[in-house]
Amino acid sequence: MAAQQSPLINVMTAAARKAARGLLRDFGEVEQLQVSKKGPSDFVSAADHRVESVLLRELGKARPEFGFLFEEQGARSGSDVANKWVIDPLDGTTNFLHGIPHFAISIGLVRGGVPFAGVVYHPIADEMYWAESGAGAFVNEHRLRVSARKNMEEAVFATGFPFKGRPTLGLAMRQVEPVLRECAGVRRFGSAALDLAYVAAGRFDGFWELALNPWDIAAGIVLVREAGGFVSELYGEGDVMATGNILAANYHLHAPLGAIIRAVA
Ligand code: IPD
Ligand code: CA
Ligand code: CA
Repeated sequence: MAAQQSPLINVMTAAARKAARGLLRDFGEVEQLQVSKKGPSDFVSAADHRVESVLLRELGKARPEFGFLFEEQGARSGSDVANKWVIDPLDGTTNFLHGIPHFAISIGLVRGGVPFAGVVYHPIADEMYWAESGAGAFVNEHRLRVSARKNMEEAVFATGFPFKGRPTLGLAMRQVEPVLRECAGVRRFGSAALDLAYVAAGRFDGFWELALNPWDIAAGIVLVREAGGFVSELYGEGDVMATGNILAANYHLHAPLGAIIRAVA
């Protein structure tokens, strides 16, 4: 199937590309260690804000009635209460700060409380992941499908570890061990949005993480679902967008992976 972008996806991908230009310039400066005298975290938060400003301008111009939920600048209501952009301007901040070329801009459109369309742009690789409900998932021009692996022993999963002493740290550590015992490997790449994009692309067979924020996962959820994968609340209760406990995998591995993780107290 040819990659036919709808007007909505066109707006999202164009905004992501525009915002990525400044982000790439800023990444170049991090690599040259020319970060501001105020320190790296100030530098990165300025980069975050610049991305958000471009997205606010571009998406606002194209769909003035939609609301926003930004990681950095918070919520802005729109006259159309059903449609909200949910945005992480830079997912993979720690990688960015360390000059590790694995980070993304994530733009989700949540419609009636449900992720409806998503764009995750990995500017270093120039991989534009995009999906719209009912229309499939793509990277650049290519259709995405989740992996077909059925056996745990062949599967590679991704996860994320909480940092800076967050309360879920112990549980997250305990969950990794039984998964590692059963599968071919567990990766921690540092960008939940790209982890989900990689599940959609069949690179990872599944992904789980605790206590994420809606902007980490809104776009990625659409990617995985439209690539034929399953996304659910890890513990089976509540809305994954509200709890942030996410389990995403192909059809065969979603249930067994979830069972292993939920058996951990
Ligand atoms: C983080 C990344 C990371 C995940 C963290 C997130 P940030 O987002 O997605 O993979 O493990 O929980 O907070 O801070 O780089 O936008
Ligand atoms: Ca994030
Ligand atoms: Ca972020």
